[in-house]
Amino acid sequence: MDTPVDTLRQHLIDPEICIRCNTCEETCPIDAITHDGVNYVVKAEVCNGCMACVPPCPTGAIDNWRTVLKSAAYSLDAQYGWDELPAQNAAVPQLAQETAPADAREDAPVAASDTVRGSTVPPWSAARPYVQLYTHKTPATAIVVGNYRLTDAAAPSDIHHIVLDFGALSFPVLEGQSIGILPPGTSADGRPHHARQYSIASPRDGERPGYNNVSLTVKRVTREHSDATDGVCSNYLCDLKKGDVVTVIGPFGNTFLMPNHPGSHLLMICTGTGSAPMRAMTEYRRRRRPGEATGKLMLFFGARTSEELPYFGPLMNLPKDFIDTNLAFSRAPGQPKRYVQDAMRERAGDVAQLLKDGNTHIYVCGLKGMEDGVLQTLADIAAAHGMAWAALWEQLKREGRLHLETY
Ligand code: A2P
Repeated sequence: MDTPVDTLRQHLIDPEICIRCNTCEETCPIDAITHDGVNYVVKAEVCNGCMACVPPCPTGAIDNWRTVLKSAAYSLDAQYGWDELPAQNAAVPQLAQETAPADAREDAPVAASDTVRGSTVPPWSAARPYVQLYTHKTPATAIVVGNYRLTDAAAPSDIHHIVLDFGALSFPVLEGQSIGILPPGTSADGRPHHARQYSIASPRDGERPGYNNVSLTVKRVTREHSDATDGVCSNYLCDLKKGDVVTVIGPFGNTFLMPNHPGSHLLMICTGTGSAPMRAMTEYRRRRRPGEATGKLMLFFGARTSEELPYFGPLMNLPKDFIDTNLAFSRAPGQPKRYVQDAMRERAGDVAQLLKDGNTHIYVCGLKGMEDGVLQTLADIAAAHGMAWAALWEQLKREGRLHLETY
């Protein structure tokens, strides 16, 4: 080891790019990441550079490193106070380039296999995404061209379909990517509100084909169910009128992407607004029917009731030979509670056929709580049909065929 004992490659999070989505804190296996109302920060004395947090970060804000004297490592208080990362102190002897420690990168797959449950690479045939074309310092603006309530007027969930048009501005997106919205105004401490991340619900060629626009699926977060900092952006978005101007950053995401090869199958599992990327992928494939795309589409979609299921009407109108749709309602009057996992078990034979096929790509998006249940269901279905789940799981992850986005 030629590392001087008194220096440290300190792991830091870029506050200018971070969209405070909490993914890194949830992923870190040793609780080295924490946050206050302003910044996400890394405990220098706890972080071991295992890299488990790096691939899941949607923006790349997590992948920042500075060589510091151990005695002068940036404290949590210092990191909480930053609006931007400090420059590398040139007086400190450098160990390598200003990115992750090389040995940590080599170790990453070993450490990550315990903690990263989905793919950290895209499907082999996915189109190459653009990411972070617009940042906090150089945001894009878009005009609201539509804002429609998707859920029944009497339903407790207020979910909106919002269409944003970028006009002449280049804002290329792929299905599965997300954008950040910067709501106007400041929080109680006088700082601008943080960006909130939303999955794009429209395909790459626009919500309206050939137009430079994207759609979002936004659920209004109401105060009684959350703390005072939640709901700022969702209420702002749900209240937008046609012609309003919105500040946008992104796009984000380079792994939760759909395969481009026509024979690829999509097994999509979602709840509530987790349907956004599924709608984007389904619509992209629908526009390429018939002939161009031949792979199967199978969807498991969970909501409280049919009135609370976004896109219920359009979904029901899709041809049965195009998409195999399975709905699970947890609070339908007079019906037993059903989750997506229950629907998957009922269709175990068909799910197993897809699991056996190397062209199948699995997407899970929605409530965090569903992740365990869905993975367990896939494991049980695999085992019941003679597949070794542990090996298959590793293979799916390695081949960019299992994508999880839960919140
Ligand atoms: P529940 O009625 O138990 O809340 P939401 O409307 O809150 O966005 O939730 C969407 C759907 O996901 C609801 O039907 C909800 O059921 C369901 N759900 C909640 N927890 C889980 C879970 N652990 N696994 C699968 N589905 C879940």
